[in-house]
Amino acid sequence: MARSVAALTGFPLLMPNRRIFPDGEQYLRIEGDVNGQDVAVFQSLAFQPDPLLIEYSLIVDALKGGGVRSVVGVIPYLAYARQDQVFRPNEPLSARLIPRLIESVGTDRVITVDMHLHRFKEPGEVFRMPAQNLTAMPLLARHYREHGRASAVIVVGPDSESEQWVRVVARELGAPCVVLEKERFGDREVKIRGELPLKGRTALVVDDIVSTGKTMIEVITRLKSEGAQRVDALVSHALLVEGAKKKMKDAGLNELIYSDTIPGGDAQVSVAPLLAKSLKNL
Ligand code: R5P
Repeated sequence: MARSVAALTGFPLLMPNRRIFPDGEQYLRIEGDVNGQDVAVFQSLAFQPDPLLIEYSLIVDALKGGGVRSVVGVIPYLAYARQDQVFRPNEPLSARLIPRLIESVGTDRVITVDMHLHRFKEPGEVFRMPAQNLTAMPLLARHYREHGRASAVIVVGPDSESEQWVRVVARELGAPCVVLEKERFGDREVKIRGELPLKGRTALVVDDIVSTGKTMIEVITRLKSEGAQRVDALVSHALLVEGAKKKMKDAGLNELIYSDTIPGGDAQVSVAPLLAKSLKNL
């Protein structure tokens, strides 16, 4: 991602040298003169958020030690945002703790994409520093339209928090939308309720994250049983763990379109131009 954004903006690219000490600790060094510079640190927090947060902290500390003027953390997928409430006594409020950690290591500002905002409504409720939350939804919707799948579509959200993304996609496609209700019974069990007027239509499910795919599978099964002719899905962050892609296909999903905020996938849509524009504006 850093490479793509550097190419789009013309900003120079530095890669840290890294290695792991025999005891598992990380060593890194930034090669190059950063004194007085404004630096954007691109950091994934997908799949292994804990060592990646330490890596990010070491990078920012090294940069600050090297005399940079400011650090923008570019974190396309902000992990831990779903634990946004103390659901049971003695749990952490991870959705606020992680932003505070990112801040405490010396970050001056953050740019992220489709942050999981549910009980917190604005990034400013968890970040004290300036934080920009970009959205990949218009890009995903445009890709869907440009590939000719957008006729007789109804846009479907699995749960109340998905409404913010559903509305953007529905507006972009000029399509009607419906938002369902989700009840979660554990990390891998969900139930979906709601009215679905979709006989003979294409249902386009929109969500911020697909992880185990259980939410999607519940929705797809429901949409198929209500007579949807075709079911496609748009998501920003495709974590796709535990064979989720195949399981969703087996449940009847025709096409999954997602962005490249999670490294390593076959994303059809890149958020690099969004991030490049935002950095240029800064
Ligand atoms: C949570 O509310 C999110 O918006 C997603 O619906 C959820 O994280 C998807 O997770 P999974 O794919 O494991 O059901």
